[in-house]
Amino acid sequence: MNARALPRPQIPVNSADPRHAVTLTVNGVEVSREVSPRMLLSDFIRHELGLTGTHVGCEHGVCGACTVLIDGVSARSCLTLAVQADGAELRTVEALADGDAGLSVLQQAFAESHALQCGYCTPGFLMALTEHFESGDPLDLSDEGIREMIAGNLCRCTGYANIVVAVRRAAELSGRS
Ligand code: FES
Ligand code: FES
Repeated sequence: MNARALPRPQIPVNSADPRHAVTLTVNGVEVSREVSPRMLLSDFIRHELGLTGTHVGCEHGVCGACTVLIDGVSARSCLTLAVQADGAELRTVEALADGDAGLSVLQQAFAESHALQCGYCTPGFLMALTEHFESGDPLDLSDEGIREMIAGNLCRCTGYANIVVAVRRAAELSGRS
């Protein structure tokens, strides 16, 4: 996806704010912007880049809805400043589905296993789990191991049981079980 081609919604700017140039790679595309040093990475992603798949729930680091990958490591974008991501490789949920190949195995498994209801939490779960699935570390697919993997993400709808099923299914689909 070409993030530079996306519309840029207008957001209020305090003209007294200094602006800092940031350049980072977002879903494989280099983007440069001048931002307030106070701008959250979650706001940068959603409002500057128009990538609204990254959701914002609690805005203080608790729910995990805003999880993205920064240099391959999952991070709360609501607790990260945009300027802190300068020079980083950022991936959001929009990067997971490949236009030709279709959904990622995690997305496919979530869909097959009915692991979402409203879906608000889902991007955060997918990005946190992507970190685990992309690491070379063995996956602990016991109930306890899977619940440990998703412990940083809250879901108000599912009761988590089908998310556990989906993680196991994703491991099966990716030959990791
Ligand atoms: S919105 Fe970032 S952790 Fe809840
Ligand atoms: S599916 Fe609704 S919050 Fe998780």
